[in-house]
Amino acid sequence: MLNIAIRAARNAGDLIQRSSENVSQLTISKKSKNDFVSEVDYMAEQEIIQVIKYAYPDHSILAEESGEHKGNEYTWVIDPLDGTANFLHGYPQYAVSIALKHKGKTEVGVVYDPLRDELFTAEKGGGAALNNRRIRVSRQTDLSTALLGTGFPFKYPQHLDAYMSMFKALTPTTAGIRRAGSAALDLAYLATGRLDGFWELGLKEWDFAAGILLVQEAGGVVTDFSFNDNFVQSGNIITGNPKMHQAIYQAIEPYVTEQLK
Ligand code: IPD
Ligand code: CA
Ligand code: CA
Repeated sequence: MLNIAIRAARNAGDLIQRSSENVSQLTISKKSKNDFVSEVDYMAEQEIIQVIKYAYPDHSILAEESGEHKGNEYTWVIDPLDGTANFLHGYPQYAVSIALKHKGKTEVGVVYDPLRDELFTAEKGGGAALNNRRIRVSRQTDLSTALLGTGFPFKYPQHLDAYMSMFKALTPTTAGIRRAGSAALDLAYLATGRLDGFWELGLKEWDFAAGILLVQEAGGVVTDFSFNDNFVQSGNIITGNPKMHQAIYQAIEPYVTEQLK
């Protein structure tokens, strides 16, 4: 199943890269405020679904652009292009994300960066890898020398104040905070130790399903904003090695509103 996920991710990635040369000619539509989708998102998703359906016609699918396709207890969770806004601006940070869940537990996760040809893979209990080499989260223990990743809640103005308070609490106490624009890659970078910690609110399952398995298999801890594991429901995520996770949680905890719990 990992091989199928890899094949689907690589096919979609190749399609995305080919299309990156004529972004200005693409048809782009607005899904909601601040949320755009292009024909590349749709085509990449169709390519992934075709590869999966050919190998596993009975499996279920949850895909960002086409929604749910009901099947058996195996579910593929797909973000065909994570970082669409970056892609459409020629900003080189986007990826394909594919996870496979069995009865609610993620078994396989693949995040593929077609620009750098970086393939991040994980299997439950089997560790995580970047281009077939084993990866681990960083050993950072000190927030003051840590590099964190985050995402801005541009779709949730109601949470902007709470988020800005978290940002204000962390900015002066860390070595830096990055907002690169692809949550799937942020999590993959965390799994390789390029980032020491990460937090974001309001994500969707397809943004993080594969990335979270990468992080967990690389020795990281993931929770929601209440230190529980209800992140699939809330979409709110704190992650890092156990020390970093704890430090981020403590810093943002005072600003976690009831709605973000
Ligand atoms: C987005 C990216 C971004 C995150 C947004 C997501 P998309 O995914 O992961 O980093 O901040 O919340 O929606 O729309 O480019 O697939
Ligand atoms: Ca996404
Ligand atoms: Ca997407």
